[in-house]
Amino acid sequence: MSRLIVVSNRVNPPHAAGEETVGGLAMALSAALREYSGLWFGWSGKTVPAFTGALDIQTQDGVTTAVVDLEEADLDEYYNGYANKTLWPLFHYRTDLAAYDRVYGEGYTRVNKRFAETLAPLIEPDDLIWVHDYHLIPLARDLRNLGIKNRIGFFLHVPWPARQVFTTLPGHALLAQAMFDYDLVGFQTTEFLQAFEEYVLNEAGGSQPEPGRLKAFGRSLQVGAFPIGIDAPEFARMLKSAKARRMRDLMTAATVFRNLVIGVDRLDYSKGLEERFMGFERFLADNPDMRREVLMLQIAPVSRESVDAYQEIRGRLDALSGRINGEFSDVDWNPFRYVNKNYRRDELAGIYGAARVGLVTPLRDGMNLVAKEFVAAQNPDDPGVLILSRFAGAARQLRQALLVNPNSPEEIADALKRALAMDKAERIRRWSALFETVQREDVTAWRDAFVGALAEAKQRRAALAS
Ligand code: G6P
Repeated sequence: MSRLIVVSNRVNPPHAAGEETVGGLAMALSAALREYSGLWFGWSGKTVPAFTGALDIQTQDGVTTAVVDLEEADLDEYYNGYANKTLWPLFHYRTDLAAYDRVYGEGYTRVNKRFAETLAPLIEPDDLIWVHDYHLIPLARDLRNLGIKNRIGFFLHVPWPARQVFTTLPGHALLAQAMFDYDLVGFQTTEFLQAFEEYVLNEAGGSQPEPGRLKAFGRSLQVGAFPIGIDAPEFARMLKSAKARRMRDLMTAATVFRNLVIGVDRLDYSKGLEERFMGFERFLADNPDMRREVLMLQIAPVSRESVDAYQEIRGRLDALSGRINGEFSDVDWNPFRYVNKNYRRDELAGIYGAARVGLVTPLRDGMNLVAKEFVAAQNPDDPGVLILSRFAGAARQLRQALLVNPNSPEEIADALKRALAMDKAERIRRWSALFETVQREDVTAWRDAFVGALAEAKQRRAALAS
């Protein structure tokens, strides 16, 4: 079997089961690598005064990680800059927040080259290379320039935006062209795949010789949709752990005679938190008879704090959560708990298990694994209800959730009312179908589908023949 080299900006060395915190990508990749003799390469998360390319290689629980430090300027221009101030907002349809600064583009190009130069000596001829996410789109081009002929695949964890949005990016053609240095490119859903195809056909003058293959920029590329999932067997084990059970008991005790509504997200403007808070506020205003029966808990660990947009949204959410409690609390009771702390995954599993409603309403999301973990954590005899944004990639698979438009606090309020009033038979019916999907389309199925397709992808380094 070929060795698998996984490359991503963030590398999460294996933790003891359950210790990891939120952040879907790193969690899924450690699960994906566990059964492969492979290597996981990326940024250490640390900075040094000048880039050296020195690798820190460690093996733990069968997974070898190789990480490299970046420079201060790389952090500013590549990670905070082009990745998180340009591409992240753009790919999540926030063109109003996207910053276009030439220096960011240069930092992105420089860091991708540095990653390629550091990784290249570790690559053996038979290795399959799997690159992840928007931080690293040009990596295959840089590896090819260094003479690497291996099969290289790319998976985008975030949405690929509609052509009209993508073309607002200065230099969009160069970024799209870089995708054609891969052998296989995967998206979370057919919607994102179609948006990419539409760009290639109508903007880049490309063609589609057959389904799943695109030609453009003198190259040919295999493309597909590969929805990511959770590590279902591991999650089931975690649910039975002492930490998970203790947290479930704690939350059950804290909500006697009340229903728990749970939201868990990185504190990010793409997650629809303001609209969600307003939806809950609207629910409280519209349903005075149900008010005292509900507690909403929103866990939102802070994220990317050096980026202004993240500081601004944090301030707005602080104000909004204060307003909701100020308006509706009583001397012996308050409706809303907002927590910026990070929790272990086993503790979160316990919290999900105690909740009657999972409120997952991102404005845009590549997939959303919180939705899937919420489903996996439910008690089959008395399951909770998932309220899910129609703009999360997960909505394509989780059809039996209550699907809402996350921009509308009114729709969120109505869905909350419906979820809290739903009888047990309907809850069981909906949940059983969701659970079956989450179990079947899990992270192992995702990895095997992508790696299988990559292993078969025809080498097409030569220029287009026909
Ligand atoms: C999203 C992205 C990942 C990223 C994660 C956490 O899931 O798709 O690439 O790693 O958010 O964000 P951070 O900036 O902390 O790595």
